[in-house]
Amino acid sequence: MTTILSASSVVAARTELLADKVLKLRAKGFIPKLRVILAGANPASLVYIGHKKKMCQRLGCEFELNRLSSSVSKEEFLNEIKKMNEDASITGCFVQLPVPNQLKDIDITELIAPEKDVDGFGAASIVDMFKGRDPMFVPCTPKGILDLLEHYKIGVSGKTVTVIGRSLIVGKPISLLLQNRGATVSMCHSKTPDLSIYTKNSDIVISAAGQTRFLGPQHFRTDQSQVLIDVGMNRDQNGNLCGDMDFEALKNKVKAITPVPGGVGPLTVLSLMENLVTATENKRQEDSQ
Ligand code: GUN
Repeated sequence: MTTILSASSVVAARTELLADKVLKLRAKGFIPKLRVILAGANPASLVYIGHKKKMCQRLGCEFELNRLSSSVSKEEFLNEIKKMNEDASITGCFVQLPVPNQLKDIDITELIAPEKDVDGFGAASIVDMFKGRDPMFVPCTPKGILDLLEHYKIGVSGKTVTVIGRSLIVGKPISLLLQNRGATVSMCHSKTPDLSIYTKNSDIVISAAGQTRFLGPQHFRTDQSQVLIDVGMNRDQNGNLCGDMDFEALKNKVKAITPVPGGVGPLTVLSLMENLVTATENKRQEDSQ
């Protein structure tokens, strides 16, 4: 029997815990507040931001969206980041990626104040992961993947894992976090020849490639022994949301698989909220010293 790795049970339990933490912080006068800068109107970004706003509201956190024009100048953009960093009422913040072309050569993730970097994309987080420890702010999607594996009691120590995708947001950090937990990780990407060699020989396969249903039964063993985690968030030709994996073709052939939607996605938003609460708790400690 294949296990469908669904976010809903993890989200339910952790949301309650988080809401309780937010209540306690608010009672002491510390309100978790998330500010997001969005330059332009990327449709996927607007959807992601909508989910983040809804979750903030559900938990009793404040949410602010700072929308900038798609033609915003570098100067204005940098000034908005500076204001965000300096505003003491904002406890967590980030710039939604991707950004318009004129901003692409700015090293944005290094401009966010480290104590507010709830995305966990800055050097402080990267260095910690590289050195073999969990950072204060674990990047949100990798954190969601780890939580899902833990919830379903899928151990990673001594396991072989293939990660497809080498992004700062998912591929690189999840590879490091899994290595730190004792997994043997192969990092594959769009230029990897004969991907099946890696995917067939892994206990766990994580795909964050962003290619519609490009992984099918030909990439995996047929003995129901593999765990598949699909981070893809794509649209098929009918406009339906789907992952990198052909869920329908794979769901009876593997040990466990995440659906899209309903797998890793909701956990990413939850991780962001957990990081926001951590940032606010840290501020409370700092302020009381
Ligand atoms: N774009 C897609 N995912 C993310 C994310 O987790 N954080 C930011 N800042 N931008 C994104």
